[in-house]
Amino acid sequence: MTEKYRLVVLASGNGTNLQAILDACDNGTLPAEVVAVISDRKNAYALQRAMDRGIPALYRPWGVYQKAGKLRTTYDLDLAVLVNLYEPDLIILAGWMRLLTMSFLEHFPEMVLNLHPALPGTFPGTDAIARAFDAFQRGEIPHTGVMVHFVPDEGVDEGPVIATEIVPIYPDDTLEMLESRVHETEHRVFVEAIGKVLEDE
Ligand code: GAR
Repeated sequence: MTEKYRLVVLASGNGTNLQAILDACDNGTLPAEVVAVISDRKNAYALQRAMDRGIPALYRPWGVYQKAGKLRTTYDLDLAVLVNLYEPDLIILAGWMRLLTMSFLEHFPEMVLNLHPALPGTFPGTDAIARAFDAFQRGEIPHTGVMVHFVPDEGVDEGPVIATEIVPIYPDDTLEMLESRVHETEHRVFVEAIGKVLEDE
């Protein structure tokens, strides 16, 4: 059997995208395995999803560094050392809500992929779906979307685009309806984008 690609997943939240990746690894859609999941939030359900599968689930809080008067670049360098231990082929940001500095990124050129629940150049940062929903109500945008991109530098939710897909918004949508449509799209597009990058390896 050919060796599988090694993915390290960084996630701050629920981890539904991590779950989509785990399922795609299990059913052979991705020729890969998740070798570690790291979170900056203790209660991130993503950690539980990893533990349920016996995958190393590591909690790395920024607060400990902050209290000790350490810089975010120190946190990021330590994070890079930790990630490197798992010898990843790709590092997947699946709802990782901390900006990574070059102290981390310089060690992993063209290896870090991020998912963002909006189209390229729109609604960077948090609450992108809610902000798109509000913008639609004001008549400012006709639709929203999702994108997967490489993370070359400290730009927020920007970088060379790997995949993008439009997600429609309908006039009688509630925010919850739009959120679930965006998440469903993400789960598919993210797996496809990871597969595409692995094919090119
Ligand atoms: C996803 O919607 C992802 O696009 C978003 O966090 C969510 C994580 O969901 N990321 C960002 O907003 C990055 N700016 P999940 O924990 O269920 O996978």
